[in-house]
Amino acid sequence: MTEKLPLLLRAALGQKVERPPVWMMRQAGRYMKVYRDLRDNHPSFRERSENPDLSYEISMQPFKAFEPDGVILFSDILTPLPGMGIDFDIVESKGPLINDPIRSLNQVQKLTPLDPQKSMPFVGEVLSRLRESVGNKAAVLGFVGAPWTLAAYVVEGKSSKNYAVIKAMAFQEPELLHNLLDHFAESIANYLCYQIHSGAQVVQMFDSWAGQLSPEDYDIFAAPYQKKVVDLVKQKHPNTPIILYISGSAGVLERMGKTGVDIVSLDWTVDMEDGLKRLPTNVGVQGNVDPGLLFGTPAAINSRIIDVVKKAQGRKHILNLGHGILPGTPEENARVFFESGKNVNELIKTS
Ligand code: CP3
Repeated sequence: MTEKLPLLLRAALGQKVERPPVWMMRQAGRYMKVYRDLRDNHPSFRERSENPDLSYEISMQPFKAFEPDGVILFSDILTPLPGMGIDFDIVESKGPLINDPIRSLNQVQKLTPLDPQKSMPFVGEVLSRLRESVGNKAAVLGFVGAPWTLAAYVVEGKSSKNYAVIKAMAFQEPELLHNLLDHFAESIANYLCYQIHSGAQVVQMFDSWAGQLSPEDYDIFAAPYQKKVVDLVKQKHPNTPIILYISGSAGVLERMGKTGVDIVSLDWTVDMEDGLKRLPTNVGVQGNVDPGLLFGTPAAINSRIIDVVKKAQGRKHILNLGHGILPGTPEENARVFFESGKNVNELIKTS
């Protein structure tokens, strides 16, 4: 008999599972002391994410500490940018910075199509090492940023509060923005295929800032490019589950369900029960515990896990937070989240 596939993969494929799998967005990172210690010795984010030994080690840190059901590649949504000719850095307390923001057609035309094997061999190496290390104890997750969110960074040049520069472009020079979004869609689809080819078993597309668009503009600038990525990846890898995450997605949930993804990742502003009513039954859900809850007590964390899992019973569900775990979260509470998630059947029985 062949060994069972990892729980998270079975769940994502829609198989009946013994309990919902659990992992956390941003599960490797600053809330962990081992990560902060490593960062003291390697202060450059680019080094931590592009040196395969470091990226592998950091990806494994939460697995070693908590054994979640998913291990996500330690990287960033911006990591493919240099391979397209866009340089970036991540600066402590400032966040991502793009040295030469994209504002003209000339700049878009100069972008190179991403050749992931050539420009990011470290990603392939890390993913295959992760697969070898975790075996069937966890699923290996890959991820990308969606075209709109990548465009938001490269046009704004940094994290933004109101996205005025990219919105000016959207509403004054839409053709220019569509050119950029299309370039990203093709490159990002290629990149996802490369990740799957290298060992990623489930992939997540982060369109973190698509929630900044009105639903009408979501249909123009975000959804078609999410869909293009999904279609291109599904042509080559029809059986690899794709998860879509948007921050502030309450107004566009139905639209997310129509992009062709297998699973919609809900933030915490939507009640799980309401969210499920708004999605077709063949689309799964991930989430959706408020990351702020991990600043609370173990009892509070448990009661919300029980609530979310009960509401999602009978549907394809991956237990997760509604966005990345926050810096400063007590590690012990992260542990409670993972352990209670794995123990949820018992918790429900005794609640
Ligand atoms: O989930 C994981 O454990 C994998 C690691 C991961 C990182 N970034 C590492 C990282 C993932 C999945 C991302 C995705 C990412 N990056 C997103 C989408 C998810 C989301 O939060 O919506 C976005 C929008 C980015 C862009 C980005 N990179 C931001 C906004 C920041 C934070 C800036 C800051 O200083 O707070 C980063 C930097 C970054 N990426 C860090 C980590 C652990 C923190 C910097 C550090 O550790 O030095």
